[in-house]
Amino acid sequence: MDKNFLWGSSISGGQCEGGFDTRSETVVDIIPQSREMRFQYLNEPGKYLQRPPDFYPSQNGVEFYENYQEDIALFAQMGLKALRFSILWSRIYLDDTDEPNEAGLQFYDNVIDELLKYNIEPIVTTIHFDMPLWVVQKYNGFYDYRTVELYQKYIQTIVNRYHNRVKHWISFCEINVMNSALYMVGGTVLPPHWDREEVLHQCAYHMLLANALLVKTCHDIDKTLKVGCEVAGTPCYPLTSSPIDYQLMMENGRKNNRYTDVMVKGIFPYYFQKEMQKYHIEMLDRDLIILKENTLDFIAVSYYKSSIVSHTGVKDNPCLEKTAFGWTIDPLGFRLILNEMYERYEIPILVVENGLGTYDKIEDGKIHDDYRIDYLKKHIEQMKLAIEEGVDIIGYLTWSAIDGVSTSEGMMSKRYGFIYVDRNDDGSGTLKRIPKDSFYWYQELIREESKNEI
Ligand code: BG6
Repeated sequence: MDKNFLWGSSISGGQCEGGFDTRSETVVDIIPQSREMRFQYLNEPGKYLQRPPDFYPSQNGVEFYENYQEDIALFAQMGLKALRFSILWSRIYLDDTDEPNEAGLQFYDNVIDELLKYNIEPIVTTIHFDMPLWVVQKYNGFYDYRTVELYQKYIQTIVNRYHNRVKHWISFCEINVMNSALYMVGGTVLPPHWDREEVLHQCAYHMLLANALLVKTCHDIDKTLKVGCEVAGTPCYPLTSSPIDYQLMMENGRKNNRYTDVMVKGIFPYYFQKEMQKYHIEMLDRDLIILKENTLDFIAVSYYKSSIVSHTGVKDNPCLEKTAFGWTIDPLGFRLILNEMYERYEIPILVVENGLGTYDKIEDGKIHDDYRIDYLKKHIEQMKLAIEEGVDIIGYLTWSAIDGVSTSEGMMSKRYGFIYVDRNDDGSGTLKRIPKDSFYWYQELIREESKNEI
């Protein structure tokens, strides 16, 4: 592997950080834990103003805010070359004011310096499902153009502050997931009786513009900064040889690729232009120029599973095994999506998430997560084959460095980390950190890979 290849891992503010009393609320802070409620919130966020008595796990995460030094020391022990984390906008701007919160900026100064102390490259996501709630309540997130202006103010503040130390920037987490989770990704609540697709397209238009403004802001400050946006890479197979299944697959691909098409090519592909017209989205020349002139340097890809489409409505792929949470396990799909993306966009890819979310058990004070090691091994194998096939991959960051609150389930017990955190689903626990077997396996892998660098 290339000597600059980034072997690393990821975390996010909304899932790990906590420090709730020193920042304002984010969109995930008000999503309750109970599974049923959570899905309602993710999919029908109109209910977001009601706050039923419940437990809100993201408010505390795993208290990375309090424990960042200890956690980063463990990341260093593992040998990580890069850590991706998100800055919480809600810590930088506590509300709609022009004054950033100096204590918040200082916290990320400390995190970045601590990482650099161990030669771990900090990679920043500007929003990872953690938009400030005040932006939602006041402007309905990216549905409103004013959020683009607020975002610009936020990114100017953080890029100006950290550009000497942060070289890779990622605008949003999984922009294409907004197709199903508009509130989580775009901070937008669907007003009653409004056309969902119309609201989605408006929100997308503004997010694309905001992404281009991050590219511009970074490049204006320092041309060598690299900017990406994260896209969920989910290959989709047709269940049968029916042309209808093929058509469904193609439509699914377009919905997932349309944002990347604009962010990489700088123009709306013909089918996306048609959609914009259909939903009456005004596309101003001024914006189109910004989109054209400020395209991504790399694509950040997450990969967990593949999906299928079928005109019969079957949703289960009979050829693949699944995790305890029903996600397909498909290492070959990883290689396929990496190839597909590189073939379509021909710019470098940074894998920013890949991992197994499942239950872990403590035995004699240890966690023998050989199932996670097996999952990661098989995916890395396929990634290496993609590299051999010519795909330009600049790094591989697993999900996740340490256990955190799961996004879709709100559970602590759906664990992804190399480091176990003693926190239970009800919030109880000592917060003690315990390296899992996968921690030592990844440490060894990075060590071995470093010997074979070219
Ligand atoms: C990605 C997100 O969608 O998948 C992470 O960027 C998330 O935030 C990860 O944790 C795994 O999903 P989940 O729902 O199992 O936590």
